Amino acid sequence: MSRSYAIAVIPGDGIGPEVVREGLRVLERVATIEGFSVRATTYPFGAEHYLKTKEIFPDAAFSEVKGQDAILLGAIGDPRIEVGLLEFGIIAKLRFELDLFVNLRPVKLYAEHLCPLKDKRPEDVDFVVVRENTEDAYAGMRGFFKKGTPDEIATQEILFTRKGVERVIRYAFELARGRPGEKKLTLVDKANAVRAMDLWTRTFEEVARDYPGVKTDHAYIDAACMWMVKNPEWFDVAVTTNLFGDIITDLGAMLIGGMGIAASGNIHPGRVSMFEGIHGSAPKYRGTDKASPLATILALAMLLDHVGEAAAGREVEETVAELIRSGRIRSLKAGDHRCSELGQMVASRLRERSRART
Ligand code: IPM
Ligand code: MN
Repeated sequence: MSRSYAIAVIPGDGIGPEVVREGLRVLERVATIEGFSVRATTYPFGAEHYLKTKEIFPDAAFSEVKGQDAILLGAIGDPRIEVGLLEFGIIAKLRFELDLFVNLRPVKLYAEHLCPLKDKRPEDVDFVVVRENTEDAYAGMRGFFKKGTPDEIATQEILFTRKGVERVIRYAFELARGRPGEKKLTLVDKANAVRAMDLWTRTFEEVARDYPGVKTDHAYIDAACMWMVKNPEWFDVAVTTNLFGDIITDLGAMLIGGMGIAASGNIHPGRVSMFEGIHGSAPKYRGTDKASPLATILALAMLLDHVGEAAAGREVEETVAELIRSGRIRSLKAGDHRCSELGQMVASRLRERSRART
C-alpha cells in the first residue's frame, strides 16, 4: 500500500517563507528516497494576508488544516501588526484548538564547535524539554482595569488544571522511559514561590509511581537555568510549564548553536500536530536568503516521525548532523551560509547517502 500524507504548510512572516521553502525541498527529496508521497497545501496566513484582507485564520481554512495529517509552520510575527495578534491568532490558535498539549523541544548538540560552553561535547548536551503547551499564562485569562490611568491594574492568570498537568507529565515519563541511557525526568517549576505549582509537585510524585524505571529529579526554574549552563549533562528529559518552557528553550537553543537549529513539535499524540522552528520571524533577514532553514528542516524530521515515517525522520536528522560534524556546514550564523544553499546541501546529501546504501 502506498503511503501518502497531506501536509498543511503555513510559511507565515519574515524568514518563514524562505525556511519553509527549504523544508519542502528536503521533504520532497526524502519522500522520493523513502517511497512515500506528500500533498502539501500552502496557506497564506500571516501579516501580508492580514494587511490585505483583515483575515487572521478563518474558520473554513482552519477546519481544512485540521483535516490534514500534519502542519509545518515557518514563523509568525511582524512589526507592522499589533503585538501578539497574529501569534495568538495563528500559533496559539493551533496549539489550543488542536489541543497540542506537548511542546517537544530537543536540546541536542551535533558538534562541539556549535556550543558556546567550554569543554561541553555532544554527549554532554543531549536532552529534551517537554513544555506544557495549552495552559499557564498563555490561557489568556487576563484583564485591564482603569486602563491608561495612574490607577491601572493589569492581571493575567497562571492557570493549571489537574488533567492538563497530568497528561503532559505522563507524556514526559513515557518519553524518558523510551530513551536510551539514563532515563531521568526532571521537573522544572517554581513551586517555592508560585504555590499554585504545588499541583505540579503532587502530580509528578503520583505519576512517578507508575514509572519505577525512570529516575526523577527536580529543579526550580532559576536553578535549572544555572544547571543548563553549568552542567547540561545532568538533564535527560525535563518537563515544565508553558511559560518556563518558552524561556528555557531559548537558552537551550543557544547551547546547541542558536535559533537557527532549534526545532519543536506541538504535539497531541495520535492527532494532527504542528511542527516549527522555535525561532521567530526575524523580519530584518526577510528575503535576504541568510536565515538558517535547519530549525525548520529538523522540525520536519519530527513531523515525519509523528506521521509514522520514523526512518525518514531519522535520516533527515542524521543527514543534518553529518553535514555539521563533517564541517561542511561551518556555521549557523545568519549569512555564513545561504538559506537556499543549506537546503540544497541537505537534499543532495540525502540523495548521496541513499545511493551509498543501495
Ligand atoms: C515560541 C514563541 C511563541 C510562544 C510566541 C510567538 C507566542 O516564542 O513558540 O516559543 O511564546 O510560545
Ligand atoms: Mn519562544
